[in-house]
Amino acid sequence: MKQSAVIKGLGFHVPERILSNKDLEQLVETSDEWITSRSGIKTRHVVSEGESLTDLSHGAALKALDDAGLSPEAITHILVATFSPESYIPSAACALQDRLGLRGRVAYDISAACTGFLYALENARAILALHPESKILVCSGDVVTSRVNWEDRATCVLFGDGCGAAVVAAEDGGPHRAVIRDVSLASDGALGDLLTIRGGGSGRHYRLGEPIGEDFFVQMQGREVFKHAVRSMTEVCNGLLERHGLTTDDVDMLLPHQANLRIIEAVGKKLGIPGERVFINVDKYGNTSAASVPIALSEAVHGGSVQPGQRVLLTAFGGGFTWGACLLDF
Ligand SMILES: CC(C)(COP(=O)(O)OP(=O)(O)OC[C@H]1O[C@@H](n2cnc3c(N)ncnc32)[C@H](O)[C@@H]1OP(=O)(O)O)[C@@H](O)C(=O)NCCC(=O)NCCS
Repeated sequence: MKQSAVIKGLGFHVPERILSNKDLEQLVETSDEWITSRSGIKTRHVVSEGESLTDLSHGAALKALDDAGLSPEAITHILVATFSPESYIPSAACALQDRLGLRGRVAYDISAACTGFLYALENARAILALHPESKILVCSGDVVTSRVNWEDRATCVLFGDGCGAAVVAAEDGGPHRAVIRDVSLASDGALGDLLTIRGGGSGRHYRLGEPIGEDFFVQMQGREVFKHAVRSMTEVCNGLLERHGLTTDDVDMLLPHQANLRIIEAVGKKLGIPGERVFINVDKYGNTSAASVPIALSEAVHGGSVQPGQRVLLTAFGGGFTWGACLLDF
């Protein structure tokens, strides 16, 4: 029997250190005016020396568990969506499992760049279909600045670090934040080179003593990515709504990936959802990759922007390319 999955708790954690557009003016030839008008970003949180994804995911996990009213011991599975684990081995999920003291739990990473949270939610739903008694900790975050080229002004001004978390379980009549009504996911690897980090992969080895090149950092064809992001998020949202016989009039809030204000506005416009029903916090955090959607969701819920009885449409787009949408009933 198909079991409804619910989000029982939400939380997020960002590093304390904040970089403003003015700070970036000291690093590269840019201006607050350029960054604000092209991206809507004003500040971003960035890790300090020695701070890793495990620190961010641990902070986010504790907040989500507290919000769910559960102790860490209740968790059966740990999923971490990221492209920037503390180490390649062990995985980000194993590092978090150890930090939480949860020896023996299932723990694995998911790689879907900025769409990671939606991919992880779908994984959680699949686990619950097999094991309805599971309590799944979904963390989704990145230390994007660990792979940012601080000499490339076209990319370094856009990103920030952070992690969001959700506790997902089967609906059991107990308290929960939202029912995960459905998720729709997609990918197109043929367009992977438009937003990529090739260096350090098994196709582009690290070699001892050799200097690393620009391709060890985020490389992006901004204009092309912009077009695909708008088109793909619009399509996947319309497809998911159609699948449920809904229209955008049935959506109380659109909560898109926070990459760029102009992308967010273009998606809202194409879907016909007015600005007052579109959640935006890109100004504070920049593009935090896998963290963007769960940070925004957590802020929207805890800040009172979403009320019980409302329907929220999440959507994301990222490197791969990957993209997706999710319908949540509060
Ligand atoms: C990156 C982005 C903001 C650039 O905006 P754009 O209008 O496309 O600008 P362009 O890349 O064409 O650059 C325009 C000019 O600004 C310059 N420029 C680039 N970065 C700059 C910066 N930080 N400060 C000042 N000037 C900058 C460029 O060098 C270029 O100058 P030129 O015309 O003399 O060559 C935009 O393409 C974008 O938002 N793309 C999507 C990025 C994204 O969100 N990706 C993640 C999706 S998951």
